[in-house]
Amino acid sequence: MASDRGEFSSRFGFIMAAAGSAVGLGNIWGFPTQAASNGGAAFLLVYLLLAFILAYPVLMAELIIGRHAHANAVRALQTIASRPLSKRVGAGAGIVGLVVASFILSFYAIVAGWMMAHCLGSLAALAGFDALEAWLVGFSLERNALFMLVFMTATAGIISAGVHQGIERWSSRLMPLLLVTMLALVIYVLTLDGAMDGLRVYLLPDFSAALAPSLVIKAMGAAFFSLSLGVGTMLIYGSYLSDRESLPVVGGLVTGVDIGIAVLAGFLVLPAMYVALASGVEIFTPTGQLISEDTLIFTVLPELFATMGAAGALVSLLFFFLMAIAALTSSISMLEPPVAYAIEEHGLTRQRAVVLISLIIAAISGTILLNFDALFGLVIAATTRYSQPLLGLVFCLYVGWVWNRNGLLQELREGAPRVEHTMFWRIWPWHVRFVCPLIIAAIFVQNLL
Ligand code: PHE
Repeated sequence: MASDRGEFSSRFGFIMAAAGSAVGLGNIWGFPTQAASNGGAAFLLVYLLLAFILAYPVLMAELIIGRHAHANAVRALQTIASRPLSKRVGAGAGIVGLVVASFILSFYAIVAGWMMAHCLGSLAALAGFDALEAWLVGFSLERNALFMLVFMTATAGIISAGVHQGIERWSSRLMPLLLVTMLALVIYVLTLDGAMDGLRVYLLPDFSAALAPSLVIKAMGAAFFSLSLGVGTMLIYGSYLSDRESLPVVGGLVTGVDIGIAVLAGFLVLPAMYVALASGVEIFTPTGQLISEDTLIFTVLPELFATMGAAGALVSLLFFFLMAIAALTSSISMLEPPVAYAIEEHGLTRQRAVVLISLIIAAISGTILLNFDALFGLVIAATTRYSQPLLGLVFCLYVGWVWNRNGLLQELREGAPRVEHTMFWRIWPWHVRFVCPLIIAAIFVQNLL
């Protein structure tokens, strides 16, 4: 049965796909810009702590539910529940997850479209098409809509090819390319004047900024977003994982790659900001605050590239290319959960499911674009800051309290016969049962107060 649904063909393929999902705009844009404005290394520490005590355990919860059920989130949450009520609630939560994944994709496709447009804009600059370049990097409804559609088409194309030929094949190609491009950019930026000031800000902790209460909820949202948690993405990828793989190991590898790339992106973006400052670009507002996180990449970096002449257009091309790739390996993982659900529960063919769901998501993106000021920020906050952690909480409660303990432990042993001798075995089942729900609840309560 599992093989009819498709399966990742190797551990490498799974890691590339799951890490490809995790590594995205959240790592390369979100993490460095938040670190820059929230205490540098202190933010890094808070983030690492949350990744370790919260995100990794929740990732494991999603992977294990998916791998056990070898089914989409809606069916999987029903499978591990034994009472009618908990089955019904589980199915409901699964559906909410699909909806949230679709809304995340609807704004993600807009932002990823900007990345593609900026990438082509650099090409146009290199070729001397100045008017075209100005249109590509300028903010207009036409440009935004066009590139959102191009990006959605690319995402849909990969997903329609299925798990092995689509997700695995493309992630395994694009992720190494991403890493090489990023390393090249980091090395280049670190040789420029002013880069060391950026490194200093990144690596010297300012705890007063990082421990501000308002920040912890943001850091939690960022950690959930970065590891693609709480929307059934990791659950569905887990459902395509072979029973011969050890879950704690593959989950640990995915978490490690995700954190590693975020930290590496910090070595690119923070030094680049201070290089920009050294060449006369404003990176602080008149009140001395760092320029807004949301606009940093589209204001500061292009101005920096502009000061570098022809080399600047090339660096800019590489940078936005990197962002577009990172976004694509993530966006496919947002489309797969609703597609798998439509195939498995409603009998659609993969092609039909992909077309139908992509059209719905493109329509949501279009609505956001038409009401940009009102909807863009709202959709991001509602999905990432609230829905993802809350759904993550549901996954923990289902693994910790609803699923019978023997079933859970047996699934954990699958592919990992020696797991019983590890700390993971002793700590994790208890940790998802008590500690994760408490941390999530505490951060929410504190936020309400
Ligand atoms: N993890 C992705 C990023 O960092 C975003 C994402 C969220 C992907 C939810 C899938 C599901 O950009």
